[in-house]
Amino acid sequence: MSRKKVSILTLQKRKETGQPITMLTAYDYPSAVLVDRAEIDVILVGDSLGMVMLGYDSTVPVTMADMLHHCRAVARGSQYAFLVGDMPFMSYQAEVAEAVRNAGRFLQEANMDAVKLEGGWEMVPTIEAIVKAGIPVMGHIGLTPQSLSQLGGYRIQGKTAGSARRLFDDALALEQAGCFAIVLEAVPAPVATAISRQLSVPTIGIGAGPGCDGQVLVYHDILGLFDRLQPRFVKEYAKVGEMIAKAFSAYRDDVIAHRFPAAEHTYPMDEREEADFLRGLEGET
Ligand code: KIV
Repeated sequence: MSRKKVSILTLQKRKETGQPITMLTAYDYPSAVLVDRAEIDVILVGDSLGMVMLGYDSTVPVTMADMLHHCRAVARGSQYAFLVGDMPFMSYQAEVAEAVRNAGRFLQEANMDAVKLEGGWEMVPTIEAIVKAGIPVMGHIGLTPQSLSQLGGYRIQGKTAGSARRLFDDALALEQAGCFAIVLEAVPAPVATAISRQLSVPTIGIGAGPGCDGQVLVYHDILGLFDRLQPRFVKEYAKVGEMIAKAFSAYRDDVIAHRFPAAEHTYPMDEREEADFLRGLEGET
């Protein structure tokens, strides 16, 4: 069967048929090519790029310019996945009109199919306005890294009956506001399952258990490329960081030992041309 570009309708159908949605982050052209080739449904250009690509301590310093730059590269590398651009901190919190304009830039200037933003009921007017402008919005509740300071660090959300109920109500409010999908991050599995059963739009879990309609992980985490933070919910599928480190050391050793470049990495020259060239140099010295 020929492969088709994933759309919101594809994702909605997955919810209805119970076939899990797959989502991974990607941040540049090569990562997008690999994720797209693996037939992952959704590529999220997450603001996690602030940490895994730019070396910041959190996602807070990430700007619109950073996001658009990385989104454009991902869009060039991806053909089939549904592309979601993450709205960075302070690009949507201050004013609704500014949020709509910034959301529009992800589609107009960076070829994204949708945007994602963090927050619960307090984001309803903003989400409604963005959706009204014709821009699909993915919500994100639970552990919302842009509010890390307010949450008191990377910690699981919705652990008590009261806070779980608030998350549940937030999810309903986001669906009502028009979100086409909602990310649930670091939420106890029973809470995520109850939310997923209640909503008619898909939930995408990260540290939210198997009851969600889809799963998302960070590219660097599943490949063993980022060791500054290792949340319990990450499954490492390969140790690419170790492989890269070994390759760099082998290259360094080869250069030092004169094993690289070998004859097969070197451009030869016609013998007569070489002799003429060297004779010419002798005449000059
Ligand atoms: O920025 C990001 O990568 C995210 C995912 C963890 C959902 O928001």
